Amino acid sequence: MQKLQQLYAGKAKSVFATEDQDYVVLSFRDDTSAFDGERIEQLSRKGEINNKFNAFIMEQLAVAGIPTHFEKLLSANEALVKNMKMIPVECVVRNVASGSLVRRLGVEDGMELNPPVFEFFLKNDALHDPMVNEYHIATFGWATDEQVQRMKALTFEVNQVLKKLFADAGMILVDYKLEFGVFKDEVYLGDEFSPDGCRLWDAETRKKLDKDRFRQGLGGVIEAYEEVAQRIGVPL
Ligand code: CDP
Repeated sequence: MQKLQQLYAGKAKSVFATEDQDYVVLSFRDDTSAFDGERIEQLSRKGEINNKFNAFIMEQLAVAGIPTHFEKLLSANEALVKNMKMIPVECVVRNVASGSLVRRLGVEDGMELNPPVFEFFLKNDALHDPMVNEYHIATFGWATDEQVQRMKALTFEVNQVLKKLFADAGMILVDYKLEFGVFKDEVYLGDEFSPDGCRLWDAETRKKLDKDRFRQGLGGVIEAYEEVAQRIGVPL
């Protein structure tokens, strides 16, 4: 399918039209951002690794019955996806306390969370993605109640599938962020699942294998992403 004009450029991916209105091309760039886009760096090969990583995860989720926007890989850094209307909230599930939860509530980093915590954030860099709840979503019309329930249920289903997938490869899925969209009146998982949007720790050493290496200036960012990909069997 032919790639046409650019429709949108996000912090790490760009979206292009195709001749079919129902599909768009997602192009994964090497740009890596933190702190709501205040810090941006190019990390060589990141676009390609995240594109292939995301394709692998989306395929595993589809096998588990989760509806996703992913159609197929087009090239090293491009994928074909459904052209959805995105719901402007981020869904976060946390199995272990880290990041903003620790800053907000003063709980211990690394504490196991049982049951896992679910949070909604408004997707808005200028406002620093504030936490919102189901009442805000209803009042401001960001999604219907039915869509909210569906996003929550799907986000927890993803947890069952991916907690096991990473555990089997010796890693802890600490937390992750998902975004959903609507395509032909149905809710689908959109955006990407990659080490840019989740926290993964080595189960033995608790070494960070995700974007926290970039946020915290730990170095070895791409090496860590490649290690995760290799451990779960992503063909790179
Ligand atoms: O990353 P930070 O500590 O600022 O926020 P968090 O609320 O602890 O993030 C929870 C999870 O969602 C982490 O895995 C983040 O990588 C991910 N996240 C994301 O991908 N994009 C955002 N805008 C916010 C969080």
